Amino acid sequence: MVDTQQLTMVSLGPGDPDLITLKALNALKDCEAIGVPTKSSDGSFDRSLTYRIVQSLMRRAGFERPIFPVYTPMRFREEDWQAQVERLYAALAEHGRVCFVTLGDSGIYSTVYYLLDRIAEQRPELYATCDVIPGVTSFSQASAHAKKPLCVGESQLQIVPLLDKELPTTTVYMRPKIGMSTEAIPEEGTMMTFEDLGFAGEKITEGKIPTVRRYMTLLIDFFTKDPHAV
Ligand SMILES: C[S@@+](CC[C@H](N)C(=O)[O-])C[C@H]1O[C@@H](n2cnc3c(N)ncnc32)[C@H](O)[C@@H]1O
Repeated sequence: MVDTQQLTMVSLGPGDPDLITLKALNALKDCEAIGVPTKSSDGSFDRSLTYRIVQSLMRRAGFERPIFPVYTPMRFREEDWQAQVERLYAALAEHGRVCFVTLGDSGIYSTVYYLLDRIAEQRPELYATCDVIPGVTSFSQASAHAKKPLCVGESQLQIVPLLDKELPTTTVYMRPKIGMSTEAIPEEGTMMTFEDLGFAGEKITEGKIPTVRRYMTLLIDFFTKDPHAV
């Protein structure tokens, strides 16, 4: 049994290994084992694009880590998420520092938050030290390929899953004017304010700040999950 356990959720980007971030690559280098999702119940990686990306990164960056399969059948069942977190708990007990990788960005329809929700409930001390590393989304890469903006000037971006039903929505508010009041911005889910992210003076506030202080401000109204939804 190891002393310290650290779980890092690593976004790999949309498929091209060159589109991984330095932070994500460093996390893979710094860990003791890498959990890779597979849709094969026998744990093989024959159909795993994620496995190929990780192998390519290790070869090119000159490092090797044991890879363990995490069976992710995409059936959206409670017992599957539980089996996945238990696989991660076992790997953490064996290796200490473990990464779990997913495609694209972990904030966009990824397995990561199904697992983190369960870890938060079952192992709050482990959850508190978990890191999530963001990545390039598939649609960012599509935009770059097409040389077309996703939004610019007087336009906005919508991400619509093809599910044919009304869905709770996350809304990102950006490009505010300094000094503007946030009073009129609707608050439907869980609002958070992010100022100067990644820069000196970074500030993250629960809720809306009343007045915008900096141009580099995002307000995000995170959707509230329907307890019956998958
Ligand atoms: C479960 S979502 C994961 C999205 C991913 N986390 C992201 O940041 O783009 C899978 C969907 O994303 C889109 N997608 C992901 N990777 C893609 C790729 N390399 N090419 C085209 N579409 C992709 C497809 O619409 C696919 O059905």
